Amino acid sequence: MIVVTFFTLFFFAHAHNYTSCKRHCGDQIHVHYPFGFSDDCEIPLHCNQSKTMAIGDFQVKQVTTDNILLHFPPDCRRNINHSHQFIGPNYAPSPRNNFLIRNCAQPVNNCSIQPKSFQDRFSVKRCDGDVSCYSENNTSHVNELGTRTNCSVLFTSILINLNNSVDSVVLALEFELVELEWWLKGPCRCAKDAICVNVSVAGEIKGFRCRCKVGSEGDGYREGGGCRRG
Ligand SMILES: *[C@@H]1O[C@H](CO)[C@@H](O)[C@H](O)[C@H]1NC(C)=O
Ligand SMILES: *[C@@H]1O[C@H](CO)[C@@H](O)[C@H](O)[C@H]1NC(C)=O
Ligand SMILES: *[C@@H]1O[C@H](CO)[C@@H](O)[C@H](O)[C@H]1NC(C)=O
Ligand SMILES: *[C@@H]1O[C@H](CO)[C@@H](O)[C@H](O)[C@H]1NC(C)=O
Ligand SMILES: *[C@@H]1O[C@H](CO)[C@@H](O)[C@H](O)[C@H]1NC(C)=O
Ligand SMILES: *[C@@H]1O[C@H](CO)[C@@H](O)[C@H](O)[C@H]1NC(C)=O
Ligand SMILES: *[C@@H]1O[C@H](CO)[C@@H](O)[C@H](O)[C@H]1NC(C)=O
Repeated sequence: MIVVTFFTLFFFAHAHNYTSCKRHCGDQIHVHYPFGFSDDCEIPLHCNQSKTMAIGDFQVKQVTTDNILLHFPPDCRRNINHSHQFIGPNYAPSPRNNFLIRNCAQPVNNCSIQPKSFQDRFSVKRCDGDVSCYSENNTSHVNELGTRTNCSVLFTSILINLNNSVDSVVLALEFELVELEWWLKGPCRCAKDAICVNVSVAGEIKGFRCRCKVGSEGDGYREGGGCRRG
C-alpha cells in the first residue's frame, strides 16, 4: 500500500513538473519554457517587486531563443566585480560584449572600436578620467575582469555586431546592453520537429538549445511546448 502511494505521488510530481513553474511576472510579463520566475523553473529569472524581470541587479530587457539581453546603464562607480552576475549555471556573456571600464592602472583597449569615438553618447554621464574598453573571446574570463584589466569600475557595455558579407560591411552598435547566451544542461531534449544546437562557451560544451525547423513554430523543447506545424 505504501509503495503504491509513493509511486502515485512520484508520478504526479513528475507529470506536473513543468506546469508548476511560474511563467508570469505581474500581469504584463510572460516568458516561455525554459524561463520562469520560481525556483523549480529550468532557468529561473527574478521577478522583483516592481514587476520587472531581473538577473542580479540588472533588468532583463528581452529573452530570445538564443540570448538574454540585460539593461546595463552607465554608472561612474559600479564595481567591476558586478561582472560576476553575468555568469550563471545556464548562461554566460557572449563575445559580442564590449565592456567600457574605468579607473584603470594603465589604459586598456582591445575592442574593435575606439572608445573615444562614441564617448559623447554618454555625455550625460561624464565621469572623471578616461574610459578604457575590453572585449573577451574567452567569456569565462569575464569573471576576472578586475584582475585581468587592473581597472575597478564597470561603466557600461556596448554590443558590437559586425556583419562581414561579400559585398558590404555593416557595423551595428547597441548601447547599454549586455548580451548573455543561454543553454539547458545535458544531452539534447528537443521536440520531434526541432533542431538541436550544442552551445559551447570558451571552447567547452555547456549544453544545448532547440529550434523548430522551418515551417513549424514553438519553443522546440520536448518538455516545453514543442513544435507545431505553422
Ligand atoms: C526591480 O528592478 C528594477 C529594475 O532593475 C529596479 O529599478 C528596482 O529597484 C527593483 N526593485 C526591487 C524591489 O528589487
Ligand atoms: C583582450 O585582452 C585580454 C587580456 O589582455 C585577452 O584575454 C582577451 O582575449 C583579449 N580580447 C580579444 C578580443 O582579443
Ligand atoms: C576573438 O574573436 C574575434 C572574432 O571571432 C577574432 O577576430 C579575434 O582574433 C579573436 N581574438 C583572440 C585573442 O582570440
Ligand atoms: C596589474 O597590476 C599589477 C601590479 O601593479 C601588475 O603586476 C600587473 O602586470 C598588471 N596587470 C595587467 C593585466 O596590466
Ligand atoms: C573584486 O573581487 C576580487 C576577489 O574577490 C578582489 O580581490 C578585488 O579587490 C575586487 N575588486 C574591486 C574593484 O573591488
Ligand atoms: C548579415 O548580412 C547578410 C546580408 O545582408 C544577411 O543576410 C544576414 O542575415 C546578416 N547576418 C547577421 C548575423 O546579421
Ligand atoms: C578559456 O579560459 C579557461 C580558464 O582560463 C581555460 O581553461 C580555457 O582553456 C580557455 N578556452 C580557450 C578556448 O582558450
